Amino acid sequence: MAAAGLTATRGGPLRGRVRAPGDKSISHRSLILGALATGTTEIEGLLEGEDVKRTAAAMAAFGAQVERLGEGRWRVQGRGGFSEPADVVDCGNAGTGVRLIMGAAAGFPLCATFTGDSSLRGRPMNRVLKPLGEMGAAWLCRTGGRLPLTLRGGDLKTIAYRLPEPSAQVKSAVLLAGLSAAGGAEVIEPEATRDHTERMLRAFGAEVSVERAADGARRIRVAGGQKLTGAQVKVPGDPSSAAFPLVAALITPGSEVTVEGVLLNPLRAALFTTLQEMGADLVISNAREEGGDQVGDVTARHSALRGVVVPPERAPAMIDEYPILAIAAAFAEGPTVMRGIGEMRVKESDRIALTAAGLAACGVGVEEEPEGLIVAGTSRGNHPVAGGARVTTHGDHRIAMSHLVLGLAAEAPVSVDEPGMIATSFPGFVEMMQGLGGDLRPAGLAPA
Ligand code: S3P
Repeated sequence: MAAAGLTATRGGPLRGRVRAPGDKSISHRSLILGALATGTTEIEGLLEGEDVKRTAAAMAAFGAQVERLGEGRWRVQGRGGFSEPADVVDCGNAGTGVRLIMGAAAGFPLCATFTGDSSLRGRPMNRVLKPLGEMGAAWLCRTGGRLPLTLRGGDLKTIAYRLPEPSAQVKSAVLLAGLSAAGGAEVIEPEATRDHTERMLRAFGAEVSVERAADGARRIRVAGGQKLTGAQVKVPGDPSSAAFPLVAALITPGSEVTVEGVLLNPLRAALFTTLQEMGADLVISNAREEGGDQVGDVTARHSALRGVVVPPERAPAMIDEYPILAIAAAFAEGPTVMRGIGEMRVKESDRIALTAAGLAACGVGVEEEPEGLIVAGTSRGNHPVAGGARVTTHGDHRIAMSHLVLGLAAEAPVSVDEPGMIATSFPGFVEMMQGLGGDLRPAGLAPA
């Protein structure tokens, strides 16, 4: 019997044009804002990954009517607020889902119990509970602010909250709670994080002001008592997902891959800048505006990469992309230094530790720091990466996809455990990579 896992084996070049799945951050928000709004929200290109499907189910549990009309086409009939769910709300693997929903729910007179899978139950919720508590919400949770937890919402008061960590999820939770707080809410972020909530709130009819403070921080304000109105949402392609086929092309000789319709919002696209600095032949064409955001087609051709020092202040704009950047760095000449990335330790897994362990198992020189990762790279062009490992992913989709991409270009095949978790953010990843020519198959099946 085949072992439960997936193996990537080096083969020929990767070639073709593909579309990235819908952006995960925007997909969650379109469902949540649709449920908070009055009237109909029509969504096109929704990511139908497990995380987002959990949010869709949660929105139905909070009283919205949520319907799938066709592939990626969803309709949400919002009731202008949340009502109390009849059962526990299970957000699966999704930190974005649970944290944004808690913020949205906190301003309504209801009691809701949230849980998730073992990864989500291990992640810190205090970062959201602290500001929501200051606004007047109450909760009871496991030690360390862990799920399962029960949140009691109600009348909220205003807050001016300076983010202690650069987190778009915390910012969004406070802004969503602020919509129903007397006096609204203000979030001050010293380092800019993805701005989808601000942009989308405006598209749903809310007033949101964004100012730069004297120290360079962003000050975002929503007034209280604002009503949202249903909207049309076109979800762009997810740059975090596009990164996998693009990096695979960069490190596999003879490859040329184009991913169409990728979101290029500057607060999300810093990986592409970093790869270009590494010497990647990465070209953006057909740049356009869609749904109020920048979108383009991104073409990657196999390139001789060189190591770089990634500016730490860039981290919030590519925080989910460091695992795949580390794979590119393994094939680059000279070291790549990634610092200021402590937030990676509280993602779906401790991504600094797992990326370091996976690379080391594949014969790549790597050094782990409390808030950083240094990948040694190669000492000359075309130096091979050994591969030949079975990588433990702790159920983390991005750790799995990153190491499979490594396996497509390494000397010996690389396997990952729990490949089913890839569907949380990138259903169709395996088929897409196979369509481009990548040799991915169940672990235990020998390559043809
Ligand atoms: C997200 C914010 C980021 C990111 C996550 C999606 C969002 O998390 O890692 O994948 O949609 O707001 P943090 O807010 O914890 O940085």
